[in-house]
Amino acid sequence: MNVHAPLCDDRRVWDAWLSVYQGPALSAADELYLFEALHAQPAPAEELAEMMGWNPAALKTVLPLLAAQGFLAVRLGRYHLTDVATTYLLHDSPFYWGHAFSILRASPTHAMFVKAVKSKPDETGQGPGGRPADAWASGQISPEMAKGVTAFMHSHSMPAAIGAADKGDFDGVERLLDVGGGSGCFSIALAQRYPGMRCTVMELAPVCEAARGYISAAGVADRVDTRTVDMFREPWPEGYHAIFMSNIFHDWTTDTCARLAASAFGALRADGRIYLHEMIISDDGSGPLPAAAFSAMMLVGTEGRQRTFAELAGLLEDAGFTDVAVAETYGYFSLVSAFKR
Ligand SMILES: C[S@@+](CC[C@H](N)C(=O)[O-])C[C@H]1O[C@@H](n2cnc3c(N)ncnc32)[C@H](O)[C@@H]1O
Repeated sequence: MNVHAPLCDDRRVWDAWLSVYQGPALSAADELYLFEALHAQPAPAEELAEMMGWNPAALKTVLPLLAAQGFLAVRLGRYHLTDVATTYLLHDSPFYWGHAFSILRASPTHAMFVKAVKSKPDETGQGPGGRPADAWASGQISPEMAKGVTAFMHSHSMPAAIGAADKGDFDGVERLLDVGGGSGCFSIALAQRYPGMRCTVMELAPVCEAARGYISAAGVADRVDTRTVDMFREPWPEGYHAIFMSNIFHDWTTDTCARLAASAFGALRADGRIYLHEMIISDDGSGPLPAAAFSAMMLVGTEGRQRTFAELAGLLEDAGFTDVAVAETYGYFSLVSAFKR
C-alpha cells in the first residue's frame, strides 16, 4: 500500500493537541511569581535562572511558551512583560486575573511545570517517573509500552514523514539509517518517494518488532529493514550515506544530544550527511506557539526540549559536521541537515 500525501495538513490537530500546555504554563508562572521577577529585572533564561535559583533548561521551554501566548516579549535578548502581563498578571494589580486560575492549578501539568522550574540546574528528568523516556534511557522497554508509544508516534509523524521525504534534499542518499525511527514512518515515506533508497530503522528490540508491522503494511519490506541497537550502549552500524533522526534530540539533554551527534559523526561514511527533523524554537526564544508547546510536552515527559536552529547547528558543528542548513518541510516541522566532509 503506497501511503499518499494527505489532502490537507494536520496543524489544526497539533494546535488542539498541544493547547493543554498553555494554561498550566500561565498558572505555574503565576505561582512562581515569575512575572514579578521579570518585571523587576527583564532577563534572558539563564540570567533569570541564576537570579531565582531556577532550572535554566526548564525556563528555555516555559519562557518561549509564555512569550508565544503574548505575556512576554523579547527585546535585545531579554524577556520583558507585555502590557497584558503587567496589567493582569502581577499579584498587586487591581486587574489581577490569578484568582481565577484554580482550574489551571488543578492540572497535573501545572505541578510538573512548577517542579521542573524549581528543580536544581543539574537535574534533568523532572517528570513523574514511569515515562517512556525513562524506559528509553535504560534501553529497556516492554512490548506493550513499545506498541503503544510507537502507535502514538506514528499518528503524529506519518504526515510529516511524507512532507519531509517530499521537501527535503536527499540527493545521493542510497542507504539511510533512521536512528530511533519508531514506527519506521520516515523510512517508509523515503523508500516510497525514492525507489533507489534503502533504509534501516535502528531501534530497541520491541520497537523494531512493532515497526516491522508498519513496514510490511506499507509494502516496502524489500527496502526497509530494522536493526536492534541501543543507541546509548551499543556501536552504531556503519557505512550509511545518511543518518536521520526525527524527534530524537528533543527527548534529551544537551549533553546527551552531543553524544548522539558524536556517535552519528563516527558511524557515517566520510561524505555522509546527518538530518535532524524537529520543530524549531525561534532564534530569539519568542515562540512560535506550536514548537514552544511541543517543548512543554518534552519538559514534562522527557529529559529534553525543542531547540533553536542555532542550538542544533552548534551541536552538529561541535561534533565535526559542516554546512548546516535548515528547511521548513511540513506542518510545523523543519529539517536541519549537515555534512561530514
Ligand atoms: C520521540 S520518538 C521518535 C520516533 C520517530 N523518529 C518519530 O519521529 O516519530 C523517540 C524514539 O527513540 C527511540 N529510542 C529511545 N531510546 C533509545 C535507545 N536507547 N536506543 C534506540 N532507540 C531509542 C524510541 O524507541 C522512540 O521510538
